[in-house]
Amino acid sequence: MEVIIQPNAESAARVVANLIGEAVLAKPDLVLGLATGKTMETVYEALVQMHQENGLDFSRCRTFNLDEYVGLAPDDPCSYHYFMRRRLFDAVNIDPANTHLPHGLAENLEAECAHYERLIAANGGIDLQLLGIGLNGHLGFNEPLSAFRSRTRVETLSRMTRAQNSPLFPKDKPMPRRAITMGVGTILEARRCLLLATGSEKADILACAIEGPLMTMVTATALQLHPATTIVLDEAAAASLRKNEHYKRGLPSSHGRVAPEISPAVNHNGTHAPAAVKEKNNLLAGKS
Ligand code: GLP
Repeated sequence: MEVIIQPNAESAARVVANLIGEAVLAKPDLVLGLATGKTMETVYEALVQMHQENGLDFSRCRTFNLDEYVGLAPDDPCSYHYFMRRRLFDAVNIDPANTHLPHGLAENLEAECAHYERLIAANGGIDLQLLGIGLNGHLGFNEPLSAFRSRTRVETLSRMTRAQNSPLFPKDKPMPRRAITMGVGTILEARRCLLLATGSEKADILACAIEGPLMTMVTATALQLHPATTIVLDEAAAASLRKNEHYKRGLPSSHGRVAPEISPAVNHNGTHAPAAVKEKNNLLAGKS
């Protein structure tokens, strides 16, 4: 696990967006796992900017979202379908046929979950899974006590999750009590996981997730088992971490990664990288 701590929420989101941008450049037909939630809004804004100003190309990307509420239609403004269209899909050149979310209105929810798993497998599995974290440590909607081997399924939302997300629903519209979510086991099969969390209210649960013992009570602890996970935090979200010598701190370099140890702009011998690398860095840094 790699933990990168940034001075503020904006630079943390920029680091995450740039890591996604780099992955798309490296593999134009990337299978990208996506997440929703307030934290992701700035990441998607940055990706839209990279597309509009610097031509980051999503035309061959395929996406799979983590979850969707049971009972909400895709055009419902509270649905994750709607969130994704508004925040990302409609603003970049992704083919809508290549974007996937579970269908919360499916007649047979169990069949829908099995179908979603088959679709991920048929696309070769997820290359990079973007993740947020709930106040109770959930990934997607894998609530406390979700098995680490769980697959895509219907999950009953916990009281804490309902309290966290219900302000996003209008007063006259009750928040659904269930959702379809990729399982913890499904998430752990992604080749790489990238979790972003910001804000002081998540500091204690992040300390449990990163430094605490594995437990299904905090499903994000399962990421400790994953061989390629990066967690990006702002200082507020990192405030309860104790093992500080293990974490990378610092401002992102011009291309968004943390300087100096993982900067491809300058070679190890101190000479500048070839033009192609510079061009890529400019694209990710939003320069033309
Ligand atoms: C929802 C989503 C999660 C997300 C969480 C965090 O519960 N199902 O995938 O991690 O929100 O949301 P926020 O970023 O608004 O704190």
